[in-house]
Amino acid sequence: MALLDVKNLTKHFGGLTAVGDVTLELERGELVGLIGPNGAGKTTLFNLLTGVYEPSEGTVTLDGKLLNGKAPYKIAAAGLGRTFQNIRLFKNMTVLENVLVGLGNHHSSHILASFLRLPQFYQSEASLKEKALELLAIFDLDKEADTLAKNLPYGRQRRLEIVRALATEPKILFLDEPAAGMNPQETAELTALIRQLKEQFDLTIMLIEHDMSLVMKVTERIYVLEYGRLIAHGTPDEIKANKRVIEAYLGGEA
Ligand SMILES: Nc1ncnc2c1ncn2[C@@H]1O[C@H](COP(=O)(O)OP(=O)(O)OP(=O)(O)O)[C@@H](O)[C@H]1O
Ligand SMILES: [Mg+2]
Repeated sequence: MALLDVKNLTKHFGGLTAVGDVTLELERGELVGLIGPNGAGKTTLFNLLTGVYEPSEGTVTLDGKLLNGKAPYKIAAAGLGRTFQNIRLFKNMTVLENVLVGLGNHHSSHILASFLRLPQFYQSEASLKEKALELLAIFDLDKEADTLAKNLPYGRQRRLEIVRALATEPKILFLDEPAAGMNPQETAELTALIRQLKEQFDLTIMLIEHDMSLVMKVTERIYVLEYGRLIAHGTPDEIKANKRVIEAYLGGEA
């Protein structure tokens, strides 16, 4: 059984079918790409998978459990983590605090312990901080732990968003254009990091990205969306050579 099993997923916005009859699977430990021209439905698909929108039709099953209709926080707790196309950080909180929010969400008993000021609160507070700093170190953000998120350069804000998503210990991480707005140097570093993440955290990752060299370098399989429909699926080499995909991209630029 696949880790994530998506069947006939559909989302209508009025007369527009943003995602139409999408069926796909993610196996444990895979790094899979999701590409397609602007407006193809990539972000909407992520929004359906993570509970931001309820599907008009179809099912999403994680580890044999149906996720349809569950609230986003329940889906996050079930193991689906994500980043957003438009960065969503707490801009006036520090780098460390942004990660602690992710960790805090995961350990709900912590809230009660902190309210009652139980001894384990101080213990867990220290261990949460330690864990957050470890995660930040992997992304070379630990030295900026006390910097306000809004004062980080853009590329590093994007990194921080990934750290925050990781803090919830997801089984699957959905990255929506993590390299958007990054310079070539930052993109190259991110490419290496995404590879490292997969190995180090035993993660399954689905990646939306317009930077084709990044997608082709890191992914094992790629799904291609156009006008809400899957038009191709294959290895990076197969996708590069796929006539239908080339047409979709040239059509988009014409
Ligand atoms: N909440 C919404 N209400 C109405 N239409 C929407 C909504 N969200 C998305 N759409 C439409 O659905 C289609 C798919 O949008 P989506 O953002 O999923 O595309 P995308 O593939 O992520 O594009 P991009 O590469 O530009 O990020 C677009 O036509 C968009 O305008
Ligand atoms: Mg998008």
